[in-house]
Amino acid sequence: MNQQHRDLIERDRKVTFHASTHLRDFAHGDAPGRVITGGKGIHIVDKDGREFIDGFAGLYCVNIGYGRTEVAEAIYQQALELSYYHTYVGHSNEPQIALSEKILALAGPGMSKVYYGLGGSDANETQLKIVRYYNNVLGRPQKKKVISRQRGYHGSGLATGSLTGLKAFHDQFDLPLAGILHTEAPHYYQRAAEQQGLSEREFSQFCAQQLEAMILAEGPDTVAAFIGEPVLGTGGIVPPPEGYWEAIQAVLAKYDVLLIADEVVCGFGRIGADFGSHYYGIKPDLITVAKGLTSAYQPLSGVIVGDRVWKVLEQGTGQYGPIGHGWTYSGHALGCAAALANLAIIEREGLTANAAETGAYLQQQMQAAFGEHPIVGNVRGVGMLAALEFSVDPAKRAHFDAAHKVGPRIAAAALDENLIARAMPQGDILGFAPPLVTTRAEVDEIVARAERAVNKVTDQLVREGVVKAAMSLS
Ligand SMILES: Cc1ncc(COP(=O)(O)O)c(C=O)c1O
Repeated sequence: MNQQHRDLIERDRKVTFHASTHLRDFAHGDAPGRVITGGKGIHIVDKDGREFIDGFAGLYCVNIGYGRTEVAEAIYQQALELSYYHTYVGHSNEPQIALSEKILALAGPGMSKVYYGLGGSDANETQLKIVRYYNNVLGRPQKKKVISRQRGYHGSGLATGSLTGLKAFHDQFDLPLAGILHTEAPHYYQRAAEQQGLSEREFSQFCAQQLEAMILAEGPDTVAAFIGEPVLGTGGIVPPPEGYWEAIQAVLAKYDVLLIADEVVCGFGRIGADFGSHYYGIKPDLITVAKGLTSAYQPLSGVIVGDRVWKVLEQGTGQYGPIGHGWTYSGHALGCAAALANLAIIEREGLTANAAETGAYLQQQMQAAFGEHPIVGNVRGVGMLAALEFSVDPAKRAHFDAAHKVGPRIAAAALDENLIARAMPQGDILGFAPPLVTTRAEVDEIVARAERAVNKVTDQLVREGVVKAAMSLS
């Protein structure tokens, strides 16, 4: 590492509180730092000039790849004209209007309006407020509980961190808040459904039954909404088992429970459809979008409100006056300009179709490389989302002892290969979410580097006696 890079990291250690970081180790120089200075296509570069393949598109968001000057230009042009004016009491800006039209056209029938925020967490916060308002206007003040899923990820605020169904986001924060519940994760592999003899469809029915049992136990007149990602993301990159969304939606309809589709990861092409909801036949009442909306060239999120809810919001303001909800930066002109340029690139370059086609190739190559690997229990994914779940004994789907930190070690070994793949926060799972511009040749390179990393750690585990010598790969 060169001196300049070292100096920057030292300065950073003294002054920055980093997200999802071991604060003590980082502040005291015991955890690594890195300063990223640039990027092009699917690559990023650090202060040493070292180049990495970003196999996770930042945090599954830089979908059009790095270094798109066209988006920078759109932001610049908009900044010359108008960077900002608030959007309260009916004020607007031209990119916001054009963007809402575009989002609604992509979302398809049944969707009425878009409300903007800056990130996925604040958008889901808006969703929770809408759900409360909706039921108050309808005269059902007791219908307020929201059901999320174990392993769901919906943000890290107080309420949205409560929706998130991951232990690390609750412990020491006194979460989840009252009124937010978690039902079964649709994780067919990990719930060992096959070993209980359940087919995927039967497991989906089981998930729906669990949801129904929870609604009945709580009282259907107290349950307002259900929130889910079309594909579980941060909880492990888990596509739903067959028939899952159909079974879940039948239960929600039966008890008049609103459905919020959190499309922060899936939205705008990641799984090879404009929305994950389209891919899985989900008919949400409300949709959350962020990440892929701007490919992270500017922070921007959105809440897409369906007709059924919109009617009630209108009715509410008729009764109570202007809605008491707003962010200073809602509909920020620079964010909207970036989103329009980003969506234009996705459309012109056919990136959603590429996510379907090259994504299918990614799945195939992952299966070929890891399907029979001695420490890989499950290879899964859809479109440009993929995951490897590691197992000390794949035949039994046995977990590694968490103390061995197998996931983080493999992510670190991948980094040694100049490949960024993400150790997912719960379980030994390595996630991949490359930019949607990734080519087949780049997929080959990602898989080859991942294979070297997994093999290297496998050999270490053999030497440590954690896995059987028969599994050695060298
Ligand atoms: C599905 C989903 N929802 C919400 C969020 C929260 O978004 P943000 O980190 O922008 O607040 C994320 C972030 O990863 C996400 O994956």
